[in-house]
Amino acid sequence: MEPLLKITDLSVSYGHVEALRGVSAQVREGQIVSIIGANGAGKTTLLRTVSGLVNARAGSITFQGRPLPKKPDKIVGAGIVHVPEGRKCFSGLTIRDNLLVGGYLFRGKKLEEDLAEQYQRFPILEQRKDQFAGTLSGGEQQMLAVARGLMSRPKILLLDEPSMGLAPIIVNQIYDLIREIHDSGITVLLVEQNAAMALGVSDYAYVLENGRISLSGSGEELLGSDEIRKAYLGG
Ligand SMILES: Nc1ncnc2c1ncn2[C@@H]1O[C@H](COP(=O)(O)OP(=O)(O)O)[C@@H](O)[C@H]1O
Ligand SMILES: [Mg+2]
Repeated sequence: MEPLLKITDLSVSYGHVEALRGVSAQVREGQIVSIIGANGAGKTTLLRTVSGLVNARAGSITFQGRPLPKKPDKIVGAGIVHVPEGRKCFSGLTIRDNLLVGGYLFRGKKLEEDLAEQYQRFPILEQRKDQFAGTLSGGEQQMLAVARGLMSRPKILLLDEPSMGLAPIIVNQIYDLIREIHDSGITVLLVEQNAAMALGVSDYAYVLENGRISLSGSGEELLGSDEIRKAYLGG
């Protein structure tokens, strides 16, 4: 079966900096796939290219067997939704308004139902819906960023370092949430420096080093690999 998302020989440069060099990766429907790599490896660039925020120098991306739409809003409309690195909540907007931004493609169409669904999933967001997003803790802002993404009705959710800067107990909550979202039928492409957490939930994973895929395998295989243990799991 054709993968849901297929990235082939993708190269991206920022001026003279080659951020991605010939990257190929696939995500099948219903999987959690992760891309692990150190700071600067090119993880964010990869997600931003899939979202249409950065142009590739070479290579191709297909979604559901068709070339990716050109414009970011059309890409969201096709079902590819990006939760950016560092959450990027609108701190001066209320929590409710942050969620409505995520639902802007569905104005008038079941918007209130979609909001209610997120409030049910995240009671803390409902309790605080009229407060500014900037008053939330880091973990709560990550939840808001994910909820905002879900308001766009993703087929595939792209998550950029959801564990960054969060205490271990909160990281566990975020990963429970990722499993739950996946179990609800949404495919997930995750990028992380936190290899142990990402590999633990992944059906398949790729290691990105200096813009190239150096290794790939099932989450379990990579967790068991000596090379990965030394380089990414603290020995
Ligand atoms: N807007 C940009 N302009 C120039 N260089 C960039 C830009 N964004 C990222 N880079 C460079 O591209 C490389 C990959 O960065 P990035 O995709 O952010 O990696 P990661 O998310 O894995 O930390 C790095 O060398 C980084 O310095
Ligand atoms: Mg990054």
